[in-house]
Amino acid sequence: MRTIDDTMIDTIRTPIDQVQAGAILDQPVYHKGRTLFAAGKTLTNDDIKELKQLNITSLGLREPEAIIGDKVQHDPLSDEFRNQAISTVRHVYEDFHNLDHRHAMQISLVSSHLLDEVRQATNLGVAVHDLRDYSNYTYQHSVNVTAISVAIGLRMGLGQEELSNLTTGGLLHDIGKMKIPLAILDKDGKLTDREFTLVRHHPEWGWDLLKERTEFPAVVWSIARQHHETLDGKGYPAKLRGSAIHELSRIVTVVDMWDALRSERPYKPAWNPDRVLAHLNSIEMVGKLDLEVLETFNALIVPYPIGSSVMITGGRVATVVGLNLTDYSRPILRFDDSGLGGYVDLMERKSLGIIKTLELAE
Ligand SMILES: [Fe+2]
Ligand SMILES: [Fe+2]
Repeated sequence: MRTIDDTMIDTIRTPIDQVQAGAILDQPVYHKGRTLFAAGKTLTNDDIKELKQLNITSLGLREPEAIIGDKVQHDPLSDEFRNQAISTVRHVYEDFHNLDHRHAMQISLVSSHLLDEVRQATNLGVAVHDLRDYSNYTYQHSVNVTAISVAIGLRMGLGQEELSNLTTGGLLHDIGKMKIPLAILDKDGKLTDREFTLVRHHPEWGWDLLKERTEFPAVVWSIARQHHETLDGKGYPAKLRGSAIHELSRIVTVVDMWDALRSERPYKPAWNPDRVLAHLNSIEMVGKLDLEVLETFNALIVPYPIGSSVMITGGRVATVVGLNLTDYSRPILRFDDSGLGGYVDLMERKSLGIIKTLELAE
């Protein structure tokens, strides 16, 4: 009698035409009463040719070992906590005129909770899901930037006090934007010179507010003031260079760029993670970002989350089915195009690479 399990196994058998060398048998192959190949065998091209000659039509193949998806890639914050953090940040930002120790207390509470959540997820890759809407943009952005900044800080081995300051500074880094009308922040088009100057003033405003109205350590204000400075002295507002920029602020700078580019805004579409990573590591960015921060960031981000559809060298289309822990940019793929089929582990096939994301898995 067939059991449900048998039926399920049948449904995942791979037609012989789609099997590629390197595939591993999950079930033995029998022929005329004897075992031709045992389970666990890695098939070669000759094996596949032989199987075709014997008119074997389909095989039970093992999914590549690295199919550990959810355990590896995930959002470092739970949905519930993320929403709670966003609403606290929103409340504190919107009430910036009355900023005082009560707001500071609320932010400190969210900070310590956020640090705990990210700490538990620190060995994992970051694939942040998008749940953005324009009206909440600045608050969501502040929470996203903080979560990833803290993940970087943990990997860089920062101490407890630094982590705590990084978290608080991250949550408050854009509070100065509250002095800019939303019509300018969300403008669908080129800013006038006056508008541009206003936008570029938000780090100073944030710094003033935090300095005058909170008792957070000076580095927390500095993060607000310096998060658009770049090491080459071409950032704003003060065109600071190199060591004049606080190391915690350098972390927020990288993640701030990432999140801004990843986000859909009225004046630009959301960029896919691979495009943002390529930009941050491009020649035009050389000398701007802290390299230790950037390398830590590169190793943390999952550019092709499991389930994403990608195009590889030669134009073939594949689905990401597994990640390699040592390099998230070289995942395990399953080919979707007809006739060729099979799996490929990009760590083992260095001649192949992903050219672009066709559809990003959410
Ligand atoms: Fe900013
Ligand atoms: Fe920002």
